[in-house]
This record gives sequence, C-alpha cells and structure tokens, in this order.
Amino acid sequence: MQLSRCRCVPLWICVLLLPVSTATDPPLNCTELTQPLQQSQLNQILGTWILIEAYGNSDFLDVQLGSLSSEWLKINTTEESGIVRLVKGVRHKNQKEKNCGFFHDLEAPLVNSSALQIKADYFSILKFLPTCSECLLYQTYSSADGLEMILLYGKSQSLGTSELEMFRKQASCLHFPQPPVATFKYNPADDLCPMS
Ligand SMILES: *[C@@H]1O[C@H](CO)[C@@H](O)[C@H](O)[C@H]1NC(C)=O
Ligand SMILES: *[C@@H]1O[C@H](CO)[C@@H](O)[C@H](O)[C@H]1NC(C)=O
Ligand SMILES: *[C@@H]1O[C@H](CO)[C@@H](O)[C@H](O)[C@H]1NC(C)=O
Repeated sequence: MQLSRCRCVPLWICVLLLPVSTATDPPLNCTELTQPLQQSQLNQILGTWILIEAYGNSDFLDVQLGSLSSEWLKINTTEESGIVRLVKGVRHKNQKEKNCGFFHDLEAPLVNSSALQIKADYFSILKFLPTCSECLLYQTYSSADGLEMILLYGKSQSLGTSELEMFRKQASCLHFPQPPVATFKYNPADDLCPMS
C-alpha cells in the first residue's frame, strides 16, 4: 500500500448516452439539471461516496479513466470554516487483487462565495451539481489544460436506471462529447480500497 499526499489530477468522465425515457415526472430541463449547488448545501456532499460512472471531454482522459478499477471519496468539514477534507482511495486495473492503489488526503478550500465549489489543487475546481438523494455529482475543470470531467458517486455500489439516466442527461446538457470519448463505469465486482 502506498500512501501519498499529492495533488489530484482531475480524472473522470463517460460513455454511451442512452435515450432518456419520458417517465411519469416531467423531465427536468438543462437549466435545472445544471443549477450549481450553493455553499449552504454543503451538508449534502459530506460522507463517503463510491464512484459509479464518469465522462471526460478528451481521449487523453480515456486512458486515465480506462485504467481505473474503483474509487471512493470521503468529504468532511474541518475545524476551519471554508476548508474541507478530501480523502480518496483509488485502485487501478493493473494492480494485484490485494494491493490497494493509493490514497489522496488533502484539505481544500471552498472558493466561490455562493456556489459550492472546491479548489482541489492549483489548477482544478470541483463544481457540485444537483443529483439524486443518495448520490454525489461534480464537474471538474482544469485551467491548466481545459480537461473536464463529470463524475457520479453513490452511497452504495450501484445506482438505479433513472439515476444513471439523469446523470447521462446532465453530461449531455454540459456538452460532454457524444458518443463519449472518455468514460468510466464501476463494476461492483471490483474491490474497493479499504475505507478505514
Ligand atoms: C426550465 O424549467 C424551469 C422551471 O420549470 C423554467 O422556469 C425554465 O424556463 C425552463 N428552461 C428552459 C430552457 O426550458
Ligand atoms: C468529520 O470532521 C469532524 C470535525 O470537523 C469530526 O468531528 C468527525 O468525526 C468527522 N467525521 C468523519 C466521518 O470522519
Ligand atoms: C461562482 O459560481 C457561479 C456559478 O457557477 C459563477 O457564475 C461565478 O462566476 C462564480 N464566481 C467566482 C468568483 O468564481
């Protein structure tokens, strides 16, 4: 097991965009689906989350997303207001069963006085968006290279079809390429790094 304290390179995004079914509720439009969460909604993003699906805007990201086996993310407050703690456990496909990948552990500031946005490293900002109640959704943007990802996490290892459809529609609203150029889909048979 390798412990490293490092900058997160933003790394995740998506695939096959399925047609969104017209369910009983009127479907939300793109304005609603991409309305940023506000800082006052910080409580909604706290906890431990498992990466379920992700899309990226470049085939460079496909290499990174394609090598990923599993990931969890913990978000918590710190004693300092405006600073959150992000801990991540990442496992790569080429690692042997028992070996975990690496952990990121960093304290990161909220950077927008209204919208819920975290500066995860010098170049990258995580922008949180509306999602289902047992889900976490953010978009990353790196000013260094223009790479963007959108990532959906769940409290458990899988999410329902309607949650996934909503996420894919959000990716489409945010103009992630279709067909996708970079994607991750979690296979619940793949182990997660230990969460303790
Ligand atoms: C999206 O829905 C909201 C609320 O129903 C409405 O106010 C807004 O005009 C709609 N926007 C578009 C682009 O249809
Ligand atoms: C989150 O951080 C607070 C202090 O800000 C701490 O009391 C609490 O135990 C932490 N929760 C978890 C799950 O680590
Ligand atoms: C804060 O976020 C909002 C919504 O994304 C954006 O319009 C605004 O420019 C941001 N402000 C700063 C200072 O980045």
